[in-house]
Amino acid sequence: MIDKYTNKILQGDCLELFKNIPDNSVDVTFADPPFNLKKNYTSYGDSLEFQEYLDWCEKWISEMVRVTKPTGSIFLHNIPKWLTYYATYLNKFANFKHWISWDAPTAPMGKSLQPSHYGILFYTKEAKGAKIYELRHPHKRDRKQGYLLKDYGGKKDQLHPFGPLVSDVWTDIHRIKHNTKRDPHPCQLPIHLMDRLILMTTDENDIILDPFSGTGTTAISAKRLGRKYIGFELDTRYVEIAEQKLERTEPNYKLGESWVSFYLKDIVTIRNNDWENLAKYFSIPNPLRKIDFERAKIVDKKLIPQDGFIEKSNDNQLKLDIKKNKTITRTKLKTTKEIVCFNTNQEVTLSKKVK
Ligand SMILES: C[S@@+](CC[C@H](N)C(=O)[O-])C[C@H]1O[C@@H](n2cnc3c(N)ncnc32)[C@H](O)[C@@H]1O
Repeated sequence: MIDKYTNKILQGDCLELFKNIPDNSVDVTFADPPFNLKKNYTSYGDSLEFQEYLDWCEKWISEMVRVTKPTGSIFLHNIPKWLTYYATYLNKFANFKHWISWDAPTAPMGKSLQPSHYGILFYTKEAKGAKIYELRHPHKRDRKQGYLLKDYGGKKDQLHPFGPLVSDVWTDIHRIKHNTKRDPHPCQLPIHLMDRLILMTTDENDIILDPFSGTGTTAISAKRLGRKYIGFELDTRYVEIAEQKLERTEPNYKLGESWVSFYLKDIVTIRNNDWENLAKYFSIPNPLRKIDFERAKIVDKKLIPQDGFIEKSNDNQLKLDIKKNKTITRTKLKTTKEIVCFNTNQEVTLSKKVK
């Protein structure tokens, strides 16, 4: 029954589309809803009254809980303000695991502290038996000199050669800064953010459902990590973009037998228990105390999948697609301003992007 909907981006209203999904049928649900901040989506107003927005959120959150398997996890991404309400609601039906703080500048609000993180609420459907794996990310280093940022004193030779366990504060994943790497969508997430959540809570062939798919970030991450996906998205243009990108995505984010998250020329997330199999692909500083200024590197760069540069190559392809596309799109591009919500208050026009 669920197979009918997997590996598809379904166009429509998520509350309607949820009706097709059986109870306890997907491994992970992840939602990155509109934040009600008056963002410039193509088909969605993003400016409901306070209570109206929360009532709407409760409807799709309860659908997420319903369709998630008892071994599964539920993730909600939003600004802290809305997450406080989400948590109060979700605490009645699911089991709180973590509030992940994703260090990324957000829109200036109010006149007190400068908001600098998004939250990702991490719940499991049941308190016991959930599928969760520990993760590691590379040691943080000074960008110019390459030295470890943290001073481990005399304990350097006891460090993990790849990097520390991932905590609930994520400072190593940046939002897509360059307009050239961005889809024409105001709030596209970086794919390796999704890779991390997916590696943490799913296995190969598990199903991840995203009710606000946008231009398909969750689906692409799932596909390249050998998982299945279901995406819902109201906007036909975003669905089209997601499908174009998915066509060019292969399930190849693997080193040996282990699924890993690549970003540019590096691996940004691995599972802790995969290191035993992965270590042979790395040159590890010897003696290990040299790790202070020498990182563990993948020995054979050919092992890095070509679409390790997926965000860029997709975007180039996308520009071509847009260029080739109907005049109607071009005309629209010249007149429609796409407001980019992420961090800078920048505004870009798509016509600029396709030059
Ligand atoms: C914050 S964005 C998600 C971006 C996505 N994570 C990405 O990386 O591309 C929210 C998306 O929800 C879509 N949306 C809004 N209301 C919806 C609804 N009722 N059902 C399905 N999608 C909806 C918007 O069109 C928008 O693309």
